[in-house]
Parts: sequence; C-alpha cells; structure tokens
Amino acid sequence: MNLSEKCPILRFGDLGDERGKLVVIEGAEDIPFEVKRVFYIYDSDSTVVRGQHANRYSEFVLINVAGKSKVRITDGTEEIIVELDRPMTGVYIPKMIWKEMFDFSPDSVLLVLASTHYDGEEYIRSYEDYLEAVKAEH
Ligand code: TYD
Repeated sequence: MNLSEKCPILRFGDLGDERGKLVVIEGAEDIPFEVKRVFYIYDSDSTVVRGQHANRYSEFVLINVAGKSKVRITDGTEEIIVELDRPMTGVYIPKMIWKEMFDFSPDSVLLVLASTHYDGEEYIRSYEDYLEAVKAEH
C-alpha cells in the first residue's frame, strides 16, 4: 500500500441547505475509528511548524474547518504533502506515521479527531527514533 492509500483524503457529506452548511462525521462510519478525543489548533501562522512526531497507537483525522494549512506526512520511505483547505475534507493518519503541520493561514482552525485519550508516552518526537522504530516493525 502506498502512502496516499494509507493516508486517504476523506470527503464528508454536506447536509447543508439554504440556511447554511452542515457537515457530520460519525465515528467508525465516516472515519476508520471511534473518536475518543477532539482538539483544535488555531492562532498558528505561516512561520510555525507543529506536530513533528509520530504516535505509536493513535490514529487521527485532520480537518481545516476554517482557513488553510498543510500537513507533510511520511512513513520514512515516501512523503506526501496534503493541503487542508475545506471543511468537508480531511486526511486520515494511521498510527506510526510522521506528520508536520505548517503554512497555517491566519484564520486557520485545524480540527483533529483522535482514536485515543492523550498519552504523551506514545509520542515519538525524534525523527531518528521514528526511523529506528519503523525499521524495528519490519
Ligand atoms: P503538541 O503535541 O506539541 O502539539 P502539536 O502536535 O499540535 O504541535 O502539544 C502541545 C502541548 O499540549 C503538549 O504539552 C502536550 C499537550 N497536549 C495534551 O495535553 N493533550 C492533547 O491531546 C494534545 C494534542 C496535546
């Protein structure tokens, strides 16, 4: 499976009408996991790089519900850059994938859905350690 297949772009349905847009994301139906945690990142800007880690257990879906950002995703072999710029679209990031979010527009609100409760211990924050851990998996 290549990296774009491992980290697919998800397109959510628009239930909007003349009153406005409505996007619904049902855990384990519209995304591959039940949601245990939600967080969002805003007030970052184009000079900032966030993330720069991989998670041993957590899966994520990233959605820019307002504004734009980009996410650089790698499995240690391939790299893709996904532009997040619409509230109806997200990217799925499985466990053990390195990610870096950057190029935030001033109005960016990056919503993150996660499959786990927070556990700082499952983060790999050094890219070298990440590559070692990936190697050890194979
Ligand atoms: P960090 O992982 O550095 O954010 P990002 O990946 O967006 O760059 O998290 C910043 C701080 O917030 C860090 O001290 C850990 C804490 N944090 C939690 O306590 N719970 C969470 O769910 C998240 C994502 C972070």
